[in-house]
Amino acid sequence: MRVAILGCGNVGAALVGIVQDRAEALAVQSGARLTIAGIAVHDLGAPRPDHVPRSLLTTDASGLVADPAVDVVVELIGGLDPAGTLVRTALDAGRPVVTANKALLASPAGVELRALARERGVDLLYEAAVAGAIPLVRALRESLTGERIHRVMGIVNGTTNFILTRMGEQGADYAAALAEAQDLGLAERDPTADVEGFDAAAKAAILAGVAFGYNVSDDAVFREGITAITASDVEFARRAGYVIKLLAIVERSGGDGLSVRVHPALVPGTHPLAGVRDAFNAVFIEGEAAGELMLYGQGAGGLPTASAVVGDLIDATRNLLAGTTAPTPDRGPAHLVPEVELESEFYVSLDVTDRPGVLGAVTTAFGDNGVSIRSVEQEGDSGEARLVFVTHRAREGDLRATLATLGGLDVVERIGGVLRIVGPT
Ligand SMILES: NC(=O)c1ccc[n+]([C@@H]2O[C@H](COP(=O)([O-])OP(=O)(O)OC[C@H]3O[C@@H](n4cnc5c(N)ncnc54)[C@H](OP(=O)(O)O)[C@@H]3O)[C@@H](O)[C@H]2O)c1
Repeated sequence: MRVAILGCGNVGAALVGIVQDRAEALAVQSGARLTIAGIAVHDLGAPRPDHVPRSLLTTDASGLVADPAVDVVVELIGGLDPAGTLVRTALDAGRPVVTANKALLASPAGVELRALARERGVDLLYEAAVAGAIPLVRALRESLTGERIHRVMGIVNGTTNFILTRMGEQGADYAAALAEAQDLGLAERDPTADVEGFDAAAKAAILAGVAFGYNVSDDAVFREGITAITASDVEFARRAGYVIKLLAIVERSGGDGLSVRVHPALVPGTHPLAGVRDAFNAVFIEGEAAGELMLYGQGAGGLPTASAVVGDLIDATRNLLAGTTAPTPDRGPAHLVPEVELESEFYVSLDVTDRPGVLGAVTTAFGDNGVSIRSVEQEGDSGEARLVFVTHRAREGDLRATLATLGGLDVVERIGGVLRIVGPT
């Protein structure tokens, strides 16, 4: 089985190593010996690990994909272009494709590529695109294929989980925790994709397809990042028995509706996701018959990600030999439920003027908008105070109306953290 590898960076180079080192075992597993037909790169002169055979490198990715001797294409370049064109060309020619490219799969082009793969009757496999080494896509697609899934809720971005872990365990503020993540190579110099939730939103969009069969692209995913979270939000959460996590959530809502969203949330300290620390990922699945499941592991890194790619490569090879493809349910576009219709408990922190009657005015704003308060804490003196509310379950639309009313009160100096609290489905 001749394999074209497009990209030889963190993941591609690790894949080349595994295919070479474990050749015998992979041949037994897949039913065919895997031979690397070529490795496409951008710069032939760039430094590479010693195990990468220089003779297989080429800058002609299109030529490699078009080579009739190639059986399977592995795309590890990343980004939309030229990766999208190369994947399309391979599928069009009837060649299975394995990719780790979440950006491509979650884009509108990803929906088209999945449709093209179905039409051509070839595999497009992407276990590595969500949560790295964690065998999540296959578990949802195969083991849980008969399950009615209610909710999939995951920590799918290691960078933000590391930052939030540092804030929660060491009392670090956001800027210091981000700087540490950057020093350790866990965050990019421009961390926007991670800290603003774009990376997690792409994974949520892909999960909507894998777990629920709907086509969702990342631009339709509701998204909030972690940049506004303060040390005092984290400290309140800790005292109240919660930890703050950035979650990607895909959930059935109101009959045939689906909610696909990424936002930070207060997770009860007793919830399995609360114990997922540092750069680890985990995905918590709630199904009708299966109940609760959690998959945990390394969500990134060259070798862990390459492990998931190898699994897909073996699957693609087996399927090609058997003349079959992996199942890909397609229910078409999702009916996405707007955020304002969802319900949860909320944490709301307000800086207010400390004088008589303030608490009454503020609680009236909650009550007038139909949001009932579960608890309130007050801190501060000398004219200024912080009020921290936890609400009962409320419609997000009502909570937003409450915030608008609060913003208009002259006693409210600043609306601080506003976070959802994870509850039952
Ligand atoms: N790294 C992770 O932990 C991780 C985890 C999960 C998923 N992924 C996904 O895996 C994919 C690869 O990630 P990575 O970290 O390995 O990326 P990377 O280190 O940046 O490697 C990208 C590779 O693509 C090559 N390339 C760039 N443009 C090219 C072109 N026009 N033609 C041919 N080759 C080209 C580069 O060549 P040069 O080497 O010559 O520059 C490089 O070898 C991405 O989709 C990423 O989202 C990565």
